[in-house]
Amino acid sequence: MSHPRTILGLESSCDDTAAAVVRVDEQGARVLSSVVLGQAQLHAAYGGVVPEIAARAHAEKLDICVEQALTKAQTTFSRIDGIAVTAGPGLIGGVLSGVMCAKGLAAATGKPLYGVNHLAGHALTPRLTDGVAYPYLMLLVSGGHCQFLLVSGPDAFSRLGGTIDDAPGEAFDKIARLIGLPQPGGPAIEGAAQGGDPERFVFPRPLLDRAGCDMSFSGLKTAVLRTRDSLIADRGGLTRQDQADLAAGFQAAVVDVLAEKSRRALSAPEAAGVRSFCVAGGVAANQAIGSALETVSDAFGASFVAPPLALCTDNAAMIAFAAAEQAGTRAPDGMTLAARPRWPLDRVQAPMLGSGKKGAKA
Ligand code: KG4
Ligand code: ZN
Repeated sequence: MSHPRTILGLESSCDDTAAAVVRVDEQGARVLSSVVLGQAQLHAAYGGVVPEIAARAHAEKLDICVEQALTKAQTTFSRIDGIAVTAGPGLIGGVLSGVMCAKGLAAATGKPLYGVNHLAGHALTPRLTDGVAYPYLMLLVSGGHCQFLLVSGPDAFSRLGGTIDDAPGEAFDKIARLIGLPQPGGPAIEGAAQGGDPERFVFPRPLLDRAGCDMSFSGLKTAVLRTRDSLIADRGGLTRQDQADLAAGFQAAVVDVLAEKSRRALSAPEAAGVRSFCVAGGVAANQAIGSALETVSDAFGASFVAPPLALCTDNAAMIAFAAAEQAGTRAPDGMTLAARPRWPLDRVQAPMLGSGKKGAKA
């Protein structure tokens, strides 16, 4: 590291407006503040994130969020070394709100501006929270993303595989809706599954018959839909036990797919030098998934790292930290910094197909 850096980060690529101050110095990285203003109640009536509503709410809340982050960090712009902002991938209106706000702040304060890839923010978080050494394997598993990344430097990511359709969090949310559980679906399914029998309904484990680490969750969703429909046709509705058994059966299928694909990722030749297996994203909060992945990691002798939930889900500390990590190896961006709806981390491989509920997959 060349010199200490205190970075203000902004994040607005989905439905969380966030700002944070992170300092990186000889003692390591510290989150001085991390403010996240969620928008769940604005979208609740629509059963999903409405991009226009999200963008407007970001534009209204970003300056408040920045003010709160500076106050909580007990700092001012004069002591900030750079301004980092998510420049993609994500819902374009929200990303634009953040980029415009950051450009305004950079122009007014004269501080360097860094456009950061949101996925790089997630992927570098294990270094912020646990100081994990490069190279490491990361499973990024959220409402909008699902991919295995080999992380070998602040801007060196290689994708070993990913979902070809839905992200798991998206599937948890859709299944919850299908079986009459509340949103967000992940915690609701996990809770219901505790009282369920995972063997009453055995759902498919998609793509386990295909080599490599690509995944698919949309067929699993259809299988749950069909089972739900036949239960309703037979008995006129779902009992609580039906809900619990459907939830448990679905969750067990996701656990098996993620565990088996993690085994394959850890045994890939590219992962030969890897000592740590890390997870990030909201779905990593699921205890059944977390403990299955930890067991796989242990079997490979890798240390398993799951950052605390607040830094696993969308936040701006990860964006500030990614800029601090990258600042040593890249020049700041100018006022021409563009907002990008798609921005694959791996520049070599072709982008994955499909576009999730929360925006484009990359
Ligand atoms: O990373 P995140 O906060 O937002 C983005 O998608 O970027 O992830 C949110 C997703 C939601 O789909 C939510 O249902 C899922 O993470 N999730 C869970 C759990 N908690 C949150 N999925 C499974 N089990 C959970 N306990
Ligand atoms: Zn995210």
